[in-house]
Amino acid sequence: MDVYEAVHTRQSIRRFTDRPVTPEVLHRVLTAAANAPSGSNLQPWHVYVVAGEPLAELKKRVAMRVAAGDSGDDREFAIYPPELRSPYLERLAALGDGRYGSLGIARDDVRGRARVRAENWNCFGARTALFCYLDRDMPAPRWSDVGIYLQTVMLLLRAEGLHSCAQEAWAEYHRSVAEVIDPPPERMLFCGMAIGFADPRVAHPRIRRAPLSEHVTFVD
Ligand SMILES: Cc1cc2nc3c(=O)[nH]c(=O)nc-3n(C[C@H](O)[C@H](O)[C@H](O)COP(=O)(O)O)c2cc1C
Repeated sequence: MDVYEAVHTRQSIRRFTDRPVTPEVLHRVLTAAANAPSGSNLQPWHVYVVAGEPLAELKKRVAMRVAAGDSGDDREFAIYPPELRSPYLERLAALGDGRYGSLGIARDDVRGRARVRAENWNCFGARTALFCYLDRDMPAPRWSDVGIYLQTVMLLLRAEGLHSCAQEAWAEYHRSVAEVIDPPPERMLFCGMAIGFADPRVAHPRIRRAPLSEHVTFVD
């Protein structure tokens, strides 16, 4: 698979099969992904791969919290600015309409949307998840390093026939994740990532991108 194919076939998958991902594949992917660039080669990512009983336990803990109406832990960072402006607002709405609309869930069906969203904490059925932490004192440029690293992982997963879904939703229950992972106190959970084989029995709708003219300016 060449890089273009990996980029074009990567999409966030939200329904995985039961088929397990072997540790050999994960080692291969994560060994290669460590070549991702980072400012001054700090490599600020800290990755925990969770599967088997620990992942089942984590899913169970968060499912219980969600079922009890617990809206999550104190957030350590904002995922949007205080006021999401155009064109971001429209893009967010389009994602929601596409995702929930394809399941027949209306915009005002708050409970329906919450039910679908809660699948995040089941990793959409995936049996392997990765949790990515970084040191709490890392400034914005180092967060970008982590993003570059995560995309490298996602593309390499494609080369192995695997799919993924990055999940910042896990940060909403970061204390439960920490109970299972037990990270050093200076580390903060950025996001999880569900990893597995896409379920071929369901549709995996793709979300469109803004045209090049909206985000690229050639100055020549
Ligand atoms: C850092 C990051 C966090 C994300 N968190 C979530 C999440 O919590 N739940 C989810 O369903 N999708 C999540 N996504 C997936 C995005 O919604 C998705 O990448 C975007 O809509 C584009 O769709 P595509 O990945 O299918 O191309 C996340 C993506 C990124 C890069």
